[in-house]
Amino acid sequence: MPETASESGTTSPSASQPASQAPEQDLSPSPEFAAGANGTAELFEQAEADHEGFWATQARERLTWAKDFDRTLDWSEAPFAKWFVGGELNVAHNCVDRHVDAGNGDRVAIHFEGEGGDTRTITYAELQKDVAKAANALESLGVAKGDRVAIYLPMIPEAVVSMLACARIGAPHSVVFGGFSADALRTRIADAEAKVVITADGQFRRGKPAPLKPAVDAAVTGESPVHKVLVVKRTEGEVEWDDARDVWWHDVVDSASDQHEAVPHDSEHPLFILYTSGTTGKPKGIFHTTGGYLTQAAYTNSVVHDVHPESDVYWCTADIGWVTGHSYIVYGPLANGATQVIYEGTPDTPHQGRWWEIVEKYKVSILYTAPTAIRTFMKWGDDIPAKFDLSSLRVLGSVGEPINPEAWLWYRKHIGGDRAPIVDTWWQTETGGIMISPLPGVTTLEPGSAQRPIPGISAEILDDEGQPLHDPEAVGYLVLTKPWPGMLRGIWGDPERYRETYWSRFGEKYYFAGDGAKYDEKGNIWLLGRVDDVMNVSGHRLSTAEIESALVSHPSVAEAAVVGATDETTGQAVCAFVILRGGFADHGDETVQELRNHVAKEIGPIAKPRQIMVVAELPKTRSGKIMRRLLRDVAENREVGDVTTLADSSVMNLIKQGMSGSS
Ligand code: WTA
Repeated sequence: MPETASESGTTSPSASQPASQAPEQDLSPSPEFAAGANGTAELFEQAEADHEGFWATQARERLTWAKDFDRTLDWSEAPFAKWFVGGELNVAHNCVDRHVDAGNGDRVAIHFEGEGGDTRTITYAELQKDVAKAANALESLGVAKGDRVAIYLPMIPEAVVSMLACARIGAPHSVVFGGFSADALRTRIADAEAKVVITADGQFRRGKPAPLKPAVDAAVTGESPVHKVLVVKRTEGEVEWDDARDVWWHDVVDSASDQHEAVPHDSEHPLFILYTSGTTGKPKGIFHTTGGYLTQAAYTNSVVHDVHPESDVYWCTADIGWVTGHSYIVYGPLANGATQVIYEGTPDTPHQGRWWEIVEKYKVSILYTAPTAIRTFMKWGDDIPAKFDLSSLRVLGSVGEPINPEAWLWYRKHIGGDRAPIVDTWWQTETGGIMISPLPGVTTLEPGSAQRPIPGISAEILDDEGQPLHDPEAVGYLVLTKPWPGMLRGIWGDPERYRETYWSRFGEKYYFAGDGAKYDEKGNIWLLGRVDDVMNVSGHRLSTAEIESALVSHPSVAEAAVVGATDETTGQAVCAFVILRGGFADHGDETVQELRNHVAKEIGPIAKPRQIMVVAELPKTRSGKIMRRLLRDVAENREVGDVTTLADSSVMNLIKQGMSGSS
């Protein structure tokens, strides 16, 4: 195991997961499944024989190009890639119009299920009209090709329509998760210089309407690049209204023409920006472009999820505020012409079997979700899914964090009827699409492991010195060794940060993913979590620095350190250590409560610390860096590790003593 961690206490990958708990059952693909599967062994051979040729074929066969490309990859300015150079296409045309043109206009694109039980069925022909209308409406609000549009919407069909309308115009969207705060929205709007925001009056959460528009109002008051706010009426709640700025969706979209020309855009035209947490407090605007991104989204949704558009009902439970919602609700499945379910609400409203009821109702055949959800269902009990008919399910997917073998086996048995293959898919906002995963018709599954790079993708595990590791169980860093079509094209407005973050740790040849990994004796890759200061809470990326800066922005806090501690349900949980300013220390409990709410207000409820511990000192190196590794030991109730690089090694004793007193 590489002794890595820099003095700052950056995590080194650890091999804490059990290597394998494979059951006795046969986990190779059934012959019937293999016979009908989209993903085949030949794909591996083709990609191996000719990497660029393989991707060129995927791009040409899966997408409709208005103008063919003349070069597959231009890597001459690495790490800035250009894919399918000279090609032109329209993403919305590919996701909607061409299916109608091909005679599939009556096929259902979206089965929408509102939390309260209201439903809408939208065919491809209807979606085409909806997208055209929205595109016309956005243009009437002054949105032109290249302008950025922020989208702050709940999981309702208008979210998909808005994204496609932007794509149609060539106006990059920046979707901001509806759970983020007004402040988080304001920074993202400012960074992308968004002209228009699309939002709703509110959304339904846990049976109640929750307002959304007030956050937008707060985010765009004062100096703001936003001149129009387009508002969908969802909850009928009271909203404040600015006549000069706000427009109702039903006023401008419903009355717009349902004809809109899908002008082709350059293959490298920016499609969207999506902000994600990095190792500093400032979120990174990851941006993706048109041809390469869509190729990879469509290809992976076909070969990994095994979508057969004419017969499957697909359901990805992610929110469109995350990359999974972008690639595997909007762009991948719609490019493939699939029929999918979109559910607005929470899994336990009005009862804990809601998801399984939806699977039964729509005969969902492919389900793509996150380990944190699976672990929650395990906790709720086997008897809940057992009450529903889940026999339609034939492929299960997992994404967002490592899935522990126990959860994998539960998912397989209680949801997949010990029959449906599970694809554990590793990828990132930055990669645009799935990178490491079994192919369900080819791979013999290994519970808990994402297994191998899919055809067209190459990965390695490197040690500290950048040497490839192949020994089973040797823990190192995951890198990607060849450019891929869905790769991020950069960080919006900050090319240097892009180079520095992803292409410097092991030199310009390797994309550094930030995840620890190892091989097992069968050659499967096991992902072991982040090796940087990024936490993964319920599959959502949060940066320690971002939460620390939220904490120190409160008048009571002198200093703060945040770590991700292992949590049974959410994977990791936010644990904060704070030094209070004089005068606040006497009201410890009250202040802690206030601080938790303060973080929720600054960033969003997902960032709310599970625990805040008031301490007198923080462990620091001689150069003044906080050693988070030691704090993680405390948060996880472990023996504290090596303290020799601390400036003052007695600090940890002080903290531990303080802990035992406070718990
Ligand atoms: C983690 C989500 C293990 C990983 C698509 C990665 C995973 C980060 C898996 C990206 C998986 C995602 N097994 N770890 N199957 N999938 N991760 O950008 O640490 O929200 O770097 O993209 O999630 O999170 P992001």
